[in-house]
Amino acid sequence: MQQRGHWSSNIGFVMAAAGSAIGLGNLWKFPYITYSNEGGAFVLVYLVCILICGLPIMMAEILIGRRAQMSPVGAMRSLVGPRWAWVGALGVLTGFVLLGFYNVVAGWSLRTFVSCLGWSTGGFDATLDLGADFGAMVSNGPLQIGLSFLFMATTVWVVASGVKEGIERAARVLLPMLLAILLLLLFNSFRLQGFAEAMRFIFVPDFGRIDGNGFLEALGHSFFTLSLGMGTMITYGSYMSKEDSVVKASGLVVLLDTLIALLATIIMFSVIFSQPGLREQISKSTAGMLFITLPSVFYTSVPMGALLAPLFYVLVAFAALTSTVSLLEVVVSYLIDEKGMSRARASIASGSGIFALSILCGLSLGAIGGLSDFEMFSPKQGLFNTLDHLVANWLLPIGGLLVTLAAGWFVNQEIAKGELALGAPSFFRFGLWQFFIRYVSPLAVVAILVAVIFFHADFS
Ligand code: TRP
Repeated sequence: MQQRGHWSSNIGFVMAAAGSAIGLGNLWKFPYITYSNEGGAFVLVYLVCILICGLPIMMAEILIGRRAQMSPVGAMRSLVGPRWAWVGALGVLTGFVLLGFYNVVAGWSLRTFVSCLGWSTGGFDATLDLGADFGAMVSNGPLQIGLSFLFMATTVWVVASGVKEGIERAARVLLPMLLAILLLLLFNSFRLQGFAEAMRFIFVPDFGRIDGNGFLEALGHSFFTLSLGMGTMITYGSYMSKEDSVVKASGLVVLLDTLIALLATIIMFSVIFSQPGLREQISKSTAGMLFITLPSVFYTSVPMGALLAPLFYVLVAFAALTSTVSLLEVVVSYLIDEKGMSRARASIASGSGIFALSILCGLSLGAIGGLSDFEMFSPKQGLFNTLDHLVANWLLPIGGLLVTLAAGWFVNQEIAKGELALGAPSFFRFGLWQFFIRYVSPLAVVAILVAVIFFHADFS
């Protein structure tokens, strides 16, 4: 048995967990799904999901991991019961698929960084059609494969070098920098003419504009953005020491993650609503918002934008890296704990398998017809979007549901109480957490899933 690595201190855990949570989910996905779900009501549902499912489940996953000191499969087996081991295994599988498509988007951040370097040194051509440029990039097969290879190789390298050295150190430096640059961009958007409309769009709910799928997407995204529902936080919790408070750490991670998602959205929408042409462009490729809209903003309306743009996209790439690392870590810790592999071998083996899936995803955005037209949930969705939909809207909420049931009904409640009480702030009430994890969170997930499955819900 190898020695289990640990974070160096409480702040080490918070940084690593926040690094996992904060990623492309916040910077790339949340803004565009908020846009396609027409804002306010969607954001409100999302925030409610974060509060009533995300926060309690975050505490549940971390406490299970820390108590068991094992990766998800072993943790579920030892704390909940032998029949629950497959819930951990489902998480490992979900992580595998999730990383398969996530890695592709992470690759786009590298390419945008390189483009920015070019524009910053060679000058930015304001007439350039960035939308067309983006379209050409995603449908370029060899480029997609190359980019995701680079990203996967880096992820494997970090995971292979171990928990404390690799993951924690990266997150500690980069997270504060990302926050700083987002605040700077926020101040810049105050003076944009679209700022007021952006705030209205994001924060004033209009329930006529959301349907059942919007609810499901908001729920699913609350799991996605917090890295919940597949054992990431169980795994990271297993590297946490007894001196740290699960409650405080969870609260802080949830707060930071939500803050960054909202900041990114306010920043992007302020710009989009300031320039009529952009709205039209966005409607053609919502998913490209982070890579189409924002670069032009840096070069046309941000002071010192030429300096900040490359820096920003490096930080996006690193935010993605601290997330991909946490995803690979779930698969790797499973192979180490359950199959007795060495860390290096496990990292390379799982990284290669996931990269194979990334190749298929990367080629499903126009490069190869059969993959790009693949349909399951909606017509001509393509493999990439299908897997995203499958993981975010189904596998993660179902995984999260199983965790709430395990933690609320099957884990010895004295153990749960003991874990949460350690170092908890004085206002924390175990009974309240228990009420949420037993009733509120599972019912919320079930209600939304049932509504979508059986009633094709249209809530508006
Ligand atoms: N939360 C990350 C993001 O928002 C992505 C991520 C990392 C993730 N690990 C996860 C999502 C585990 C779900 C489960 O970008």
